[in-house]
Amino acid sequence: MKIVVIGGTGLIGSAVVSNLAANGHDAIPASPNSGVNTLTGEGLADVLDGTAAVVDVSNSPSFEDHAVLEFFETSTRNILDGMVAAKARHLVALSVVGDDRLPDSGYLRAKVAQEKLITSSGLPFSIVHATQFFEFIDRIADSAMEGDTVRLPSVLFQPAAAGDVSAVVGEVAQGAPLMGILEIGGPEQFRFDELVRRHLAAHGDTRTVVADPHARYFGTELEERSLVPADGARLLPTTYENWSRQQEARS
Ligand SMILES: NC(=O)c1ccc[n+]([C@@H]2O[C@H](COP(=O)([O-])OP(=O)(O)OC[C@H]3O[C@@H](n4cnc5c(N)ncnc54)[C@H](OP(=O)(O)O)[C@@H]3O)[C@@H](O)[C@H]2O)c1
Repeated sequence: MKIVVIGGTGLIGSAVVSNLAANGHDAIPASPNSGVNTLTGEGLADVLDGTAAVVDVSNSPSFEDHAVLEFFETSTRNILDGMVAAKARHLVALSVVGDDRLPDSGYLRAKVAQEKLITSSGLPFSIVHATQFFEFIDRIADSAMEGDTVRLPSVLFQPAAAGDVSAVVGEVAQGAPLMGILEIGGPEQFRFDELVRRHLAAHGDTRTVVADPHARYFGTELEERSLVPADGARLLPTTYENWSRQQEARS
């Protein structure tokens, strides 16, 4: 079937496109690079024509509070309107574990706004809530810099490999709409500061990582379980150690 992947050139999106194509689907990546802009609506009606399902794994180029809210609200409205016009029957969106318990984060408020538009749209949907990707750890460290140190709270952290997350998103897109949220996370729990320290050291990054209970993560303080999925979440197979080995083998 035809499945349009909004953000299909990104980290998750490109793997979702490959995965769907390998399963015999007509998987179409849609992003500004391919002439489709969900913020302006450019190219959207054309690409959605004849599609059975849409996967939205796009991301805002800016994480600034106002810009990211504008991105997810306007893009989601345009995607939903386009799906109604094209009579597409399933929207799959990727969001973040714990977004609804961290309202001080502008980024996570925007993800909650995206989800509200989807769940109240009346269109069949599936939302996948993932924990942070191993691939995102460097950006987390950069965003947690104060002076020349990285400051992070020592809370629980359960990241996953982007490849595993993409496989689940692809699987969900091929199935019946969940009309709810599927929570997924990595196979192991770490202390946030400890894994970031270990990751930077393994990559020859000499920045110091300091445990600070009041350090903010994308605008919000965190509690012990803010970033981890609930009991019963689906755990993904790739450990941090195996992911690191795969990364080394590729470089
Ligand atoms: N990072 C994490 O740890 C994490 C955890 C859980 C969930 N998520 C969610 O995962 C999703 C995907 O993240 P990612 O890291 O794969 O993103 P990414 O690599 O930054 O890719 C973003 C994609 O969005 C596209 N895009 C940007 N502006 C667009 C627009 N105006 N119209 C259409 N497409 C646009 C980009 O297209 P171009 O290539 O053409 O610019 C690109 O394909 C996000 O929604 C994020 O909230 C992330």
